[in-house]
Amino acid sequence: MSDVKFYYGDNVPLEMHKVRIIQKLNLVPIERRLAAITEAGNNTFLLKNRDVFLDMLTDSGVNAMSDKQLAAMMEADDSYAGSETFTKLESKIEEIFSKKFFLPAHQGRACENILAQSFVKPGSVVPMNYHFTTSKSHIVLNGGFVEEVLIDEGLNINSEYPFKGNIDIEKLKAVIKKYGADKIAFIRLEAGTNLIGGQPFSLENMREVRKVCDDFQLTVVLDASLLADNLYFIKTREESCQNMSIREITRAMSDLADIIYFSARKLGCARGGGICTDNEQLYLKIRELVPLYEGFLTYGGMSVREMEAITVGLDETMDEDMINQGPQFIAYMTQELQKRGVPVVTPPGGLGCHLNAMAFVEHIPQNRYPAGALASAVFVASGVRGMERGTMSEQRDEHGNEPLSNMELLRLAMPRRVFTLSQVKYAVDRIGWLYENRQLIDGLTFVEEPKILRFFFGKLAQVTDWQTKLAAKFRADFGESL
Ligand code: F0G
Repeated sequence: MSDVKFYYGDNVPLEMHKVRIIQKLNLVPIERRLAAITEAGNNTFLLKNRDVFLDMLTDSGVNAMSDKQLAAMMEADDSYAGSETFTKLESKIEEIFSKKFFLPAHQGRACENILAQSFVKPGSVVPMNYHFTTSKSHIVLNGGFVEEVLIDEGLNINSEYPFKGNIDIEKLKAVIKKYGADKIAFIRLEAGTNLIGGQPFSLENMREVRKVCDDFQLTVVLDASLLADNLYFIKTREESCQNMSIREITRAMSDLADIIYFSARKLGCARGGGICTDNEQLYLKIRELVPLYEGFLTYGGMSVREMEAITVGLDETMDEDMINQGPQFIAYMTQELQKRGVPVVTPPGGLGCHLNAMAFVEHIPQNRYPAGALASAVFVASGVRGMERGTMSEQRDEHGNEPLSNMELLRLAMPRRVFTLSQVKYAVDRIGWLYENRQLIDGLTFVEEPKILRFFFGKLAQVTDWQTKLAAKFRADFGESL
């Protein structure tokens, strides 16, 4: 995809696939968008899809599937135990990751539940490059806590650094020294680090982490949910890996991890998940929880059709033409927004384009949820649904204090192979307009606040009547346009 040069010098990502099944979209008028976001309590999770134009909430479970994946789903072998479909998936996992033992689970957080219950005890520490919402919640629920050992550059929103998801080896050693190796449940490395803007770690960094873990006999757990993006960035940004194939890079990463788990809602473009390892002892320790929470060992809560799709999807992930589509579209969107002065996370990562709400609406204090307010404003202005990744996504501590997030981001996810370039241009146009009118945006306040994972179903209200004013300005500038 990236190697195609345009005669007139345009820098346009070119798709290496064609669209053969489509879904009709609605773009409802701004008055309806305003009513819809109010009904949803300014929480984009609570919007109805019928009111959404471009659904950039997430890539989870909504990546486009290939003709080969759909075909494979037609010949699934449905049985509770010993299904041929499961054997195929298990063999594909072994082929790609070279791990003998595979445990299926219905999605990524189910793997996190099983791993946390198996390894985390009260007082356990889990060092990691950066937390993900569900991974942290499972560790905390089991009485443990997270120590983030990300390099400082990782939290620098505008940077040129290619591997902002790297672990700081000195910080990791200091954490081991502080708590003692026996308190450490495992080290978690998240590929395509989600909450800091889909940023990768390098293979070299993973090697260094492995070395420290060998010295202290610690278990390395790789969250491979966003592995596809991380593979692409290693291939294109890490000089020593330029001559390695995607399969070789995958294998090198896999050899450095004791346990790999993934959400197949992301990796493999289907719906499901699983855990794999080469270590029989670890396998036996984890195995008993699978039938208890997920289902028998040969389906783990997944339908056989999805397992067939995952098998093909994993294989297709080894194709650079497939895994570069997301990052290249994201880079395009990021650069176009930058041209309009819109503050975004750089370098562009995987998963989605991330707006820096702290700069976009710098007049809104963090306890009025700048990223949440921006999510609401973007929806009103465009019908594009993004996801708040800031203070709203944090959880209050046991005293009710609200931790302020390190970053206030609005994530505009780019599900793989789903949107066209003109749709991305539309999103850029409306966000550019919104940036010019950013002074109209004001904060939000909770009116219903759940204790756990409040961002999923909490409801908020605008602190002043800013949304009506924003809609009026839209009408003044765009006339009768949708
Ligand atoms: N790990 C990472 C890095 C993730 O991004 C996710 C999900 C999970 C684990 C959990 O997997 O959803 O299958 O249970 N991320 C989704 C998102 C929800 O929108 O970023 P899951």
